[in-house]
Amino acid sequence: MRELTELYYFSPTGGTKKAGMLLCEGISWDVEAVDLGKKEEAPREPEGDLVVAAMPVFGGRIPGVAAEKLRTLNGKGKKAVAVAVYGNRAYEDALLELKDILEECGFEVTAAAALVAQHSMVPEVGAGRPDEEDQKEILEFGRKVREKLEKGSHGAVEIPGNRPYKDEMEIPATPMSAPSCTKCGRCAMACPTDAIRIEDGQVMTEKESCILCMACKAACPEHARILPPPMQEMMDEKLGAFRAVRGANELFLG
Ligand SMILES: Cc1cc2nc3c(=O)[nH]c(=O)nc-3n(C[C@H](O)[C@H](O)[C@H](O)COP(=O)(O)O)c2cc1C
Repeated sequence: MRELTELYYFSPTGGTKKAGMLLCEGISWDVEAVDLGKKEEAPREPEGDLVVAAMPVFGGRIPGVAAEKLRTLNGKGKKAVAVAVYGNRAYEDALLELKDILEECGFEVTAAAALVAQHSMVPEVGAGRPDEEDQKEILEFGRKVREKLEKGSHGAVEIPGNRPYKDEMEIPATPMSAPSCTKCGRCAMACPTDAIRIEDGQVMTEKESCILCMACKAACPEHARILPPPMQEMMDEKLGAFRAVRGANELFLG
């Protein structure tokens, strides 16, 4: 039988996908990835024996749009690994929330991990992560997950976090386009919530739909998509203390 591992991920700037893929590669040779951020790609029934769900941490929670898509999966008692990818600050209730969602979908959560990636709003925080050291650690954890699956062990996984979860973060402002913007539309195409439109030669961002995920910034070839400077300054200051710290990958096997 095919020992397929499916990675269901939401990764606006690529860090979550990278960390999630590393874990999958440690577990299995046969990996398929499903991007929950793609507008056209509806989640499907998992085909393999194992699902790895990898989500970024936004304000200590899982982004609501991604959680909604994940909720439509039917776990049918299959095994799953919960992965919350955080930007070197803290993952708070996100991993617990992700585990709860997977269990509500009918999965048995057999392992979990909070992994560090570069902070998508302040790239100097967690810069370059996951790096080589992370790679070794994550691949090794993947191998341990595989061993647990091979043994058929059902050890329960205890995840830190609180219920009720902390409130979802507020969106104080949206990214904006600097004068060097060429109106190429890549930001609008990359936006997972369709918050960006180009109208009358202007890039318009709808505050009600924007989740501040920074996919637009990552997609801009001109580096013209930025946070409003006062907001960027506020974030730089808020996260300043985390630049010099190496946050840990936290691994839970049960
Ligand atoms: C809106 C927003 C909120 C975030 N909140 C947190 C947080 O609470 N804790 C943290 O450590 N990192 C936080 N981050 C950083 C992301 O979790 C981290 O950069 C992650 O790798 C982003 O995933 P991606 O690269 O797949 O887009 C936040 C990033 C964004 C854009």
